[in-house]
Amino acid sequence: MAELTLPANSKPVTGKTWKAAAGAKNIRNFRIYRWDPDTGANPRIDTYEVDLDTCGPMILDAIIKIKNEIDSTLTFRRSCREGVCGSCAMNIDGTNTLACTKFIAEVKGDVKIYPLPHMPVVKDLVPDLTHIFAQYETIEPWLKSDTPPQTRERLQTPEERAKLDGLWECILCFSCSTSCPSYWWNGDRYLGPAILLQAYRFIADSRDEATGERLDALEDPFRLYRCHTIMNCTKTCPKGLNPAKAIGEIKKLMVERR
Ligand code: SF4
Ligand code: FES
Repeated sequence: MAELTLPANSKPVTGKTWKAAAGAKNIRNFRIYRWDPDTGANPRIDTYEVDLDTCGPMILDAIIKIKNEIDSTLTFRRSCREGVCGSCAMNIDGTNTLACTKFIAEVKGDVKIYPLPHMPVVKDLVPDLTHIFAQYETIEPWLKSDTPPQTRERLQTPEERAKLDGLWECILCFSCSTSCPSYWWNGDRYLGPAILLQAYRFIADSRDEATGERLDALEDPFRLYRCHTIMNCTKTCPKGLNPAKAIGEIKKLMVERR
């Protein structure tokens, strides 16, 4: 994991309140976690008054507006703004989700925004994903085959292709892994729901010929079996996927091959 200066393990203190422009009538408070490693100060919660009459409907619209018009130091990731890149995942109103697909109107009262839980913070709403992407690399997320290369694509029947539905849609936002208590406490060795769903995506693919090898790599008390079917992952996935089911399928294959 990259060297990071971590915030003190203390409750964030109350920070600054940034007032809306005079004349704003439809104000909503956005209470946002702030932490800057360069200052060494404790994390704080800043409050931004946002005029919803001049703001788009999504949470991401509001934080972009804050950055553009109120406080340019607010730091967060985003790219596609349509739920396909996974970069804007954060904890909004107590749930890990995507800022670009979450409507402001879905949140009652002040909008509380934190970075994904239990991850080191790079700055403000940006979690350090170094470790989890290193875990992703360990499952070798590419098709492996010993049969000679073909002159055209490797074909699948519609039934074989259908087995990938519910898996290929994963955008690696890590909302699931960072909602999982088992991953919070054992994330150094447990792969967590996002990576295990990805592992199953390749195990389930008829074009992949490394199933045995992939299962061998997961047969470990921590990498796979720290899943205790808590189901937070499935509940929180903003793409409506079911990582707990994918993990269950891997466990089933482990039993069947004994
Ligand atoms: S399974 Fe869902 S929550 Fe987990 S990384 Fe994939 S898209 Fe995100
Ligand atoms: S900006 Fe790409 S998923 Fe939200």
